[in-house]
Amino acid sequence: MGKSYNVLIIGAGNIGAFFDMPYSKNVLTHAHAFSKVEGFNLLGFVDVDNKKAIEAANIWNAKAFESIEEAFTNNTIDIVSICVPDEYHYKILDEISIFSVKVVFTEKPLTKNLIEAKKIIQLYNENNIKCMINYSRRFVSQFEQIKNEIEEGKYGELLCGSGYYGKGILHNGSHLIDLLRYIYGEIKSTQTLSYNYDYYKDDASVSAILTFNNNSNFVIQNIPASNYTIFEIDLLFEKKRIRITDSGFKIEIQEVLDSNVFKGYKNIVKTSERKTELGEALENAVLNIYNHLKYGEKLKCNIHDAYEVIKICENLQSGRRL
Ligand SMILES: NC(=O)c1ccc[n+]([C@@H]2O[C@H](COP(=O)([O-])OP(=O)(O)OC[C@H]3O[C@@H](n4cnc5c(N)ncnc54)[C@H](O)[C@@H]3O)[C@@H](O)[C@H]2O)c1
Repeated sequence: MGKSYNVLIIGAGNIGAFFDMPYSKNVLTHAHAFSKVEGFNLLGFVDVDNKKAIEAANIWNAKAFESIEEAFTNNTIDIVSICVPDEYHYKILDEISIFSVKVVFTEKPLTKNLIEAKKIIQLYNENNIKCMINYSRRFVSQFEQIKNEIEEGKYGELLCGSGYYGKGILHNGSHLIDLLRYIYGEIKSTQTLSYNYDYYKDDASVSAILTFNNNSNFVIQNIPASNYTIFEIDLLFEKKRIRITDSGFKIEIQEVLDSNVFKGYKNIVKTSERKTELGEALENAVLNIYNHLKYGEKLKCNIHDAYEVIKICENLQSGRRL
C-alpha cells in the first residue's frame, strides 16, 4: 500500500485503546482501527496518566510518551487522534496546531462551545491542518445509501420525525443532530421544550422541536441516562418511513400499502430491516483518512460539519434559559 503514515493517539482511555483488544472482532478503538488499516503505523500514546499510556502501548505494540512534545521530538507524526474527554478537546487541538501534522482525527464534539470551535477553525486553516470529527454514523455505508435515496426522491417529502437520546445535547445529542443534517438536511430553527442534567453538569439534555427547511418538524426527546441508553430516529416521509434503532445498528423501512382490513385505507407497514456496519465505523473512518491522504478523497465529517452541530446545540441550550 506504499508509505506508512505515523499515528499518535492522545488519550489512552476507552475509545483510544481499551474498548477492545487486537484479537477482537469488532473495531471499537482508534488504536485497533489504525493497527488494522494498512498504510498506518501506530507510533504511540500520550495520556496525563502515564500508566494508561504504558498499558495501551503494551496492548497495541506501540510506545508510551510522557508528553506531546516528547512524542514530536525525533518523530514525524502524520496523524493525531484525540481521544480525551470533551472538555479537553479544545486544549489538545490548540496544542498540536503548532506541529506539522497532516490530519487530526478528533472525537466528538469538536469543542465544548462555538467560540472555541471558531478559534480552532481559524488556527487549522492558517496552519493547513485537516480535521475530521468522529460522528461515527457518517462512516457507515447504509446511512450513506439512505441519504442518497432521500436525495433521489425515493421517499418523497419529509412529513415529520422524532428521536431519543440521553447524556447531554452536546455529548450525545450532537450525534443525532449530525445524522439528521447528514441524511436529510439543514435545520432552520429550534424550539426548546424542556431539559435536565442527566449526566454532565454543564451539558443539559434538551427536549426540543427542530424545524427543517421544508417546515417539517422533528421532536428530539431526552431520556435521562439513569434509565437506560437509547439512540433512535424515526422519519416519516410521504412514501416510506425510516426507523433507525439499536443505536444505529438497525434500519427498518416501512412502506405505504393498501390496508387488507379496511377497504380504501392505506397503512404504513414494515417491509424490510437491514443491519448496519456501525461496528465497522471507526475502521471505515480511518480508511477515509488514508484515501484522503493518498487519493484526495473528501473527508466524510469535516470541521465545518462539526461547527454547525455545535451551533444548533448552543441554540438548544440557550433556549432553555429563555
Ligand atoms: N464517537 C463515539 O461514538 C464515541 C464513543 C465513546 C467516546 N467518545 C468520545 O471520546 C472521548 C473520550 O471518551 P472515553 O470514553 O474514551 O474517555 P476515557 O475517560 O475512557 O478516556 C480519556 C483518557 O484521556 C486522558 N486524558 C484526560 N485529559 C488528558 C489530557 N489533557 N492529555 C492527555 N490525556 C488526557 C484520561 O487520562 C483518559 O485516559 C470523549 O470526548 C467522548 O465523547 C466518542
